[in-house]
Amino acid sequence: MDTDEGLEACTKKRSSFHSTIVIVTSTFLLLFPVVIHLQTYPLRLFGYSTSASRAFFYTWRGLAAINVTGQSSSSDTIIWTSKLRESITFLPLKDLRVARTAMEGNTWFMSSLNDTYEENEAEYLYFPSEASRGRILCIKGRDTHDGTKNSYALAWPETIPDSATLMEGLTFVSDTYYDYVNLWHGLCAMAPFVGWSIENECIRPSRWVLFHWGEMRFKMGSWLEHLMEANFGQVKVESFEGGDGPYCFEKAVVMRHNEGKMGKQKKLQVSDLLRCKARRFCGIANGAEREAEVNERGEPIIRLTLFMRRGSRSFKNATAVTDIFTRECAKVDGCHLNVVQSEELNFCDQVRVMTNTDIVASPHGAQLTNMLFMDKNSSVMEFFPKGWLELAGIGQFAHHWMADQSGVNHQGAWWEPLGEKECPTPQHDLECFSFYKDGKVGHNETHFADWAREVIGQTKIRKTGNVMVSKQSSIASCIC
Ligand SMILES: *[C@@H]1O[C@H](CO)[C@@H](O)[C@H](O)[C@H]1NC(C)=O
Ligand SMILES: *[C@@H]1O[C@H](CO)[C@@H](O)[C@H](O)[C@H]1NC(C)=O
Ligand SMILES: *[C@@H]1O[C@H](CO)[C@@H](O)[C@H](O)[C@H]1NC(C)=O
Ligand SMILES: *[C@@H]1O[C@H](CO)[C@@H](O)[C@H](O)[C@H]1NC(C)=O
Ligand SMILES: *[C@@H]1O[C@H](CO)[C@@H](O)[C@H](O)[C@H]1NC(C)=O
Repeated sequence: MDTDEGLEACTKKRSSFHSTIVIVTSTFLLLFPVVIHLQTYPLRLFGYSTSASRAFFYTWRGLAAINVTGQSSSSDTIIWTSKLRESITFLPLKDLRVARTAMEGNTWFMSSLNDTYEENEAEYLYFPSEASRGRILCIKGRDTHDGTKNSYALAWPETIPDSATLMEGLTFVSDTYYDYVNLWHGLCAMAPFVGWSIENECIRPSRWVLFHWGEMRFKMGSWLEHLMEANFGQVKVESFEGGDGPYCFEKAVVMRHNEGKMGKQKKLQVSDLLRCKARRFCGIANGAEREAEVNERGEPIIRLTLFMRRGSRSFKNATAVTDIFTRECAKVDGCHLNVVQSEELNFCDQVRVMTNTDIVASPHGAQLTNMLFMDKNSSVMEFFPKGWLELAGIGQFAHHWMADQSGVNHQGAWWEPLGEKECPTPQHDLECFSFYKDGKVGHNETHFADWAREVIGQTKIRKTGNVMVSKQSSIASCIC
């Protein structure tokens, strides 16, 4: 499974600022009277039919005559077109001047452009649109270490630079403050695209273009790649092999705030869709791989999974923890305990395990992002090593939020008590935290037993009243 750094809020720490950059716009304003007549294509989001798409290509190649209402001769048109082509100004994808100024609305990524915001949705940019005055997005550069070396510009399709490659269809362009490898971070970056697609007839992109701080990323981690394949089918992550570009996109959606202002209802809708698609992708949706909900006596089955990790944040004594849960589970009719090593599972194994889990008990870590695949109203029990409660900051609540946005009950967490700080620099929290960050998780036999008993009991009551409902929900169809 994927690597696992400390987890942060999806939407925290986004560097934002108020932009004053108008270089691109001002260049065009001088030429605006001419340009307005050159717009020969619709500005609505999905205005292109296949033949319109072809026409777009001809236009781009200059094959279509651009008639300027008879007022200018065609040689004037050619001159203006070529001037426009040469006037396109590329700006750095990562704008250092504004990296430290925090204001609502923008980020250092494509800093000159304002987001579109609709109630309940994540903020996004769409090109071409009325907001872009019909211009499409072009990106130049494929640097993987310095976001200021990659750049962007807007251009009318008729006048994109001669050296540009036009990429047909819809492109999803993402910039994240975090990464595409960690399960939680990756999900935070991709969820807005899934949400946007739901609002737009479940449309699928032709390609991904991925950035982190404006630095290009050529792949996603395997978990995220599979999840996106489950939802959108196979979509290439673009790496601009054809050279440094520019590359201009017939249609593009840009997301740069992760989940940003996405509302709770929207997040739940995205989780519902991803759960449904992942199960279908893994052949579980038809019920074949789904375990029974009731035993032979008609009592609900309670499936408790101890989801283990190796190395950092594993249990100090996994045997002792397993013994406690085994004992408590054995006391309840219909309770089945499953002890699973998360690293040994491929994507569909993870989906399968979680589909068949009512209660997951697991140390804090990205493996818990798999709660996405549990039925709604299932339960999560989370465990932290010492030092986390006191020193880890708000990011340690990532899985509380994850539960909230996927309709799962977070049953709270157990933090190993810290006692005296043993770190070399107890007065410096940040340094002290790195001492504790990758520690292992101890246990408290009394507390674990009481807690397990309580959650198993609750689950039994819930499932007793719910056997029929959950049976139906497992065969419901996905909204996309
Ligand atoms: C441009 O105008 C000429 C004559 O004014 C006309 O013959 C031609 O069909 C027009 N082309 C387009 C693409 O509208
Ligand atoms: C972006 O929004 C700000 C504040 O609303 C506005 O002043 C600015 O002109 C906008 N910029 C563009 C390029 O639309
Ligand atoms: C782990 O727990 C088991 C069961 O409580 C105990 O027998 C064993 O000694 C413990 N191991 C260590 C290394 O503490
Ligand atoms: C989850 O629980 C809520 C509140 O108890 C209930 O209204 C809802 O129907 C449940 N959902 C499912 C899928 O069981
Ligand atoms: C273990 O948990 C019990 C019950 O919550 C608590 O009373 C006790 O103080 C805990 N023991 C330690 C060593 O923290």
